[in-house]
Amino acid sequence: MDMGLNNKTALITGSTKGIGKAIAIELAKEGVNVLINGRNYDEVEQTVNEIKSKFPTTSPQNATADIVDKEQRKALFEKYPEVDILVNNMGIYEIMQYEDVDDEVWEKYFRTNVLAANGLAKFYLSKMLKNDYGRIVFIASEEAIMPSGQMPQYCMTKSMLLSLSKSLSKLTRDTEVTVNTIMPGPTLSEKVHQIIEGIYTNENMTFSEKEKQFMAANLPQSEIQRFIRPIEIGRLAAFVCSPYASAFKGSPIRMDGGMVPTIF
Ligand SMILES: NC(=O)c1ccc[n+]([C@@H]2O[C@H](COP(=O)([O-])OP(=O)(O)OC[C@H]3O[C@@H](n4cnc5c(N)ncnc54)[C@H](OP(=O)(O)O)[C@@H]3O)[C@@H](O)[C@H]2O)c1
Repeated sequence: MDMGLNNKTALITGSTKGIGKAIAIELAKEGVNVLINGRNYDEVEQTVNEIKSKFPTTSPQNATADIVDKEQRKALFEKYPEVDILVNNMGIYEIMQYEDVDDEVWEKYFRTNVLAANGLAKFYLSKMLKNDYGRIVFIASEEAIMPSGQMPQYCMTKSMLLSLSKSLSKLTRDTEVTVNTIMPGPTLSEKVHQIIEGIYTNENMTFSEKEKQFMAANLPQSEIQRFIRPIEIGRLAAFVCSPYASAFKGSPIRMDGGMVPTIF
């Protein structure tokens, strides 16, 4: 299916790995010129080159920046003053006990997972409204609506993104701009892959066996009993960014493998 995205420009935050990279690849597959972001210039450059060689008709660009840093965000805006699509994917997560989450940690998570994304949305939304076209997608998590209790500092920020997305969507009334949130369930990014390999060190087990055991022991509520593959989120994100998805307005869109047990 041609998603009608050819020659659009998209900034995908945190796109050198995991879900962000998969979104960038799926957008590039649709002819989008992707701006690759991460803090490490060489890793960003490597991803840019990889995408350029896979999709030579597109023009991926190096958008290295620590987007939590206000000054670096400003420099990024000067380099790329307009984008058609903004995917606010970058986010940090870590299992923590509530007792260990002090004020500094709460603030770090708020600054990283919410304020950085809001800073980018605030800058690009006004341009999108002026152009009467644009897509902003926040990547939250199923933990936004179903906190497991294992990462309170993280879940709070993901719930906030749902609210922020809906507030911004209100500003897009009667325009071709949309603001939505995708809530992935547990997804096999490189980081998650490493965690599983670290838990099951038995060399005779295949990764698929490790994955099955982990799901059964830790995520029994998942209906797919496997991790979601980043490409699955990537494909969904590309659709949400497409002109065919213009009726999604401020929607929380779940792709959680059945983790959330309720209808809504
Ligand atoms: N994996 C899951 O199971 C899962 C499930 C639900 C939701 N999510 C959400 O999906 C998003 C992506 O998760 P993931 O697992 O794919 O992440 P990941 O593998 O940890 O990748 C994170 C990306 O963000 C970049 N990054 C980190 N800090 C940055 C900063 N300050 N400025 C710019 N880039 C930065 C990293 O590159 P550098 O470190 O080189 O900067 C990397 O490219 C997150 O928002 C996460 O909460 C993940």
